[in-house]
Amino acid sequence: MAEGLTFDTQVSHALERAYQTPDIIAARQAVVKALAVQAGQSVLDIGSGPGLLARDLAPVVGNTGSVLGVDLADDMGESATKLCSDFSWVNFENADALSLPYADNSFDRVVSTQVYEYVADLQCAVDELSRVLKPGGYAVIVDTDWEFPYWNASDGGVRDRVIDAWKAHCGQQSVPLRLPAAIKSANLQLTKVQALPILNTSFDENSFSYWLSMIISDFARGRNGLTEAETAVWVNDLRILDGKGEYFFCINRYLFEIIK
Ligand SMILES: C[S@@+](CC[C@H](N)C(=O)[O-])C[C@H]1O[C@@H](n2cnc3c(N)ncnc32)[C@H](O)[C@@H]1O
Repeated sequence: MAEGLTFDTQVSHALERAYQTPDIIAARQAVVKALAVQAGQSVLDIGSGPGLLARDLAPVVGNTGSVLGVDLADDMGESATKLCSDFSWVNFENADALSLPYADNSFDRVVSTQVYEYVADLQCAVDELSRVLKPGGYAVIVDTDWEFPYWNASDGGVRDRVIDAWKAHCGQQSVPLRLPAAIKSANLQLTKVQALPILNTSFDENSFSYWLSMIISDFARGRNGLTEAETAVWVNDLRILDGKGEYFFCINRYLFEIIK
């Protein structure tokens, strides 16, 4: 992730806000449903970030179960621990998705949302998920198709350069297209794939794409020849389009349901 997105305090804050918008709350609910977690089970959340999914899973497993979130970034673990402080059976550790410090067949459920685009080796990450999941256990992986964000702009040229620059935010491209093969190679069974579209027709703090535009404009600045003024004009244009009732953003996440 050397050249990619760094999950520093500023990015973590914007992500946390993005992940509390209605579209992402609905996406998390779809994950919780697909995991079909039962009380007393052990759940591993790989790349748990701000801990919002762990918090949603906590009452479902209850105090006879456990939720363990692992993440590479220290900042994430601190805020996740604070967020889940009411649930003593939810814990967070620093660990790498590529080398999970847990025994084979340890967890009833394993989940990883929006993480595998950042890992250095997609197959290795899925192999690790497979290794720590108990036989018969369920896993869910979610990732975004960043190839086709459908985003209105008055100047399509600047928009396309910004979106193109954003592709470098992660090391793995087209993860949803590659996951079925990686899942099969890891000796897991893919049982279902769902599309989770995110559609915003307004640009405000309740829109996922509002927070995404903050992260993208910051990341794109200085890349693809984009100046600070150009990225600022791109974001301002989104506000103008919103004011005219012409704001439009759509992107797809994909949810992969897996059994071992
Ligand atoms: C976009 S956030 C997603 C957070 C969370 N899963 C969610 O959906 O709310 C990506 C997270 O993956 C973490 N991450 C990236 N590479 C990782 C790795 N190799 N191992 C563990 N975590 C990683 C980042 O630190 C970040 O918290």
